[in-house]
Formats: sequence, C-alpha cells, structure tokens
Amino acid sequence: MTRVATSKSEKREILRRRLDFEFNPAAVPRDWYAGDLHLTLFWDGLSLLFPKGEQFFVNSVKHFTKPRNGTSRITDPELLDQVAGFIGQESMHGKEHRAFNEMLLEHGLDSAPRLEAEVAALLNRAQRKLPPIVQLAVTCALEHFTAILGEQLLETDRHRAAIHESVRDLWVWHALEESEHKSVAFDVFRAVGGSYPIRVGTMLVTSVIFVVVASEVHIRLSYRAGELFKPRRWLSNLNFFWGKPGLFRKLLMPYLDYFRPGFHPSDRDTTELLEEWDERLFGEEGTLLGVLKGTYDASGELVGAPAG
Ligand SMILES: [Fe+2]
Ligand SMILES: [Fe+2]
Repeated sequence: MTRVATSKSEKREILRRRLDFEFNPAAVPRDWYAGDLHLTLFWDGLSLLFPKGEQFFVNSVKHFTKPRNGTSRITDPELLDQVAGFIGQESMHGKEHRAFNEMLLEHGLDSAPRLEAEVAALLNRAQRKLPPIVQLAVTCALEHFTAILGEQLLETDRHRAAIHESVRDLWVWHALEESEHKSVAFDVFRAVGGSYPIRVGTMLVTSVIFVVVASEVHIRLSYRAGELFKPRRWLSNLNFFWGKPGLFRKLLMPYLDYFRPGFHPSDRDTTELLEEWDERLFGEEGTLLGVLKGTYDASGELVGAPAG
C-alpha cells in the first residue's frame, strides 16, 4: 500500500457543489471581458478547452483509484475522499462550461464545435499513447496552471471587475474550486511514485503544447470574428498579458516555482483566500445561492441544501 505524503498545510475537505447556471446570450455581451472582443476571445478559447480537458484530468486521476489485481493504487482514505471531491468539482466545471460554450455558439462563434472536436482528438490520442503516470503528470502541470490563474482572479479586483457581471460568477466559482483542489492530482502523483524528472519534464512539454493550442484557438476564433488582422489589438493584448497590468508576467514566478524539487501546491497557503470566497459565494449572503442546487461530501451525502 502506498500512502500519500502529508502536505504542508492541513488538508481541506473538498466539497462537491452542484450548480446550474443559465447563460442568456442576449444578456451577455460578446465582448464580456473588459468590453474588448479580442481579449474576450482568448478567455472564450480557454472555456472551449475546459470540458474535454477536465475530462482528461478526471480520467488520469481515476486510473489510479481503480482496483488492480484486487487492490487500489491509492488506498489512503483521506486522499480517496479528496479524489472524489476533485472528480465531482471537475465534472461540474465541464457541465457549466459546456453551457457557457453553447452560449458562445449563439454569439456566433461557429467554429467552436470544430475546435472542441480537435482538442478532444488531441486528448484522446494522449490517452491512448502516453503511459498513465505521464498522463497524470500532464494533469498536475495543467492543474498548476489553473490554480495560479484561479488564485490571480480571486486576488485581483481589477481582473474580476473586467468580467461582465452576467458571467463573472462562473469564472470566480471555477477559480475558487481550482484553488481548493489544487493539490489532489499532485498528491496522487506522489502517492503512486511519480518522480521529479517525469513531473518537470512533462511540465516543460505540456507548457509548450498548451501555449501553442491556446494561441491557435485564439487566432482561429479571432479570424472568424474579424479580429485577426488588427495589429493594434494584438499589441495592446500583448501589453495586457505581458506588460501592464501583465497578468501572465505576474504569474511567471508562481509558474517557475513548480520546477523546485521540493515544490508542493500547498506551499502557497490560500486558506484565508478560499474562506473569504467561499463566504462571498456560498455564505449567508452568498452571490451564488440562487444557482446552488446542493453541496455534497465525499460520500455523496448532502451537507448543504440550497437556500429557500
Ligand atoms: Fe476545473
Ligand atoms: Fe482542476
């Protein structure tokens, strides 16, 4: 039996929240991020990657929970509970981003289904060809991306304010849960003997592929939207991400931290940040109580019913 190493901060219970957002294409502007269609298309592109990508994450982690020769690969009950929470959260993200992506279709992003199908084909190929431990390392790498992007969104008022209020809660809720479960795939990777060279080697390759895929999706969406041949837009967005305010520039050090041999996602303690946002979204005055259908623990028991 392999036991997971204890992370530096105490493990948080990962709850599964069942939500049901409704996106009205008429109420959501096409340029819902900062009133800037070009920038918005970048985030739209990310949303198109989520449902298939998150299914890949779930499969790669699930693989190590399946009984093999009568035994599970991971047996630590606490970690298994966290895996159940992780799977529940990622599945719900997939469902809600599919709803968001359907709205994008109504907004005229008619190339979205084709892009999603191409991403699905790429991920299916990765699932067929890569050893399970490398698939898990890919998940750890991309979970690091979503964790640092998510924490940046929770921490940066200006970034959140740029998102139109009709879709802001989707992105903030997703950010909160990415931060809540940021250690799960990593802990499974360590528990099943994942090595440092596999972890960082996979991160390097995954980073390149991710940047290429996200850029290609952005370029193709921009082309269809008539935004491709606008050099000024590209320059101002380059400045937005890498200059001022420099969203990606500010993530460079947190990204590089992953390459430290002793790195663990919980090294960055976000307990207070998560408590604050759990309260703001799901507390007594929570902004998401209206779309929350129930909160469940790892065993599937309802631990929080929707208000009213
Ligand atoms: Fe997610
Ligand atoms: Fe995640």
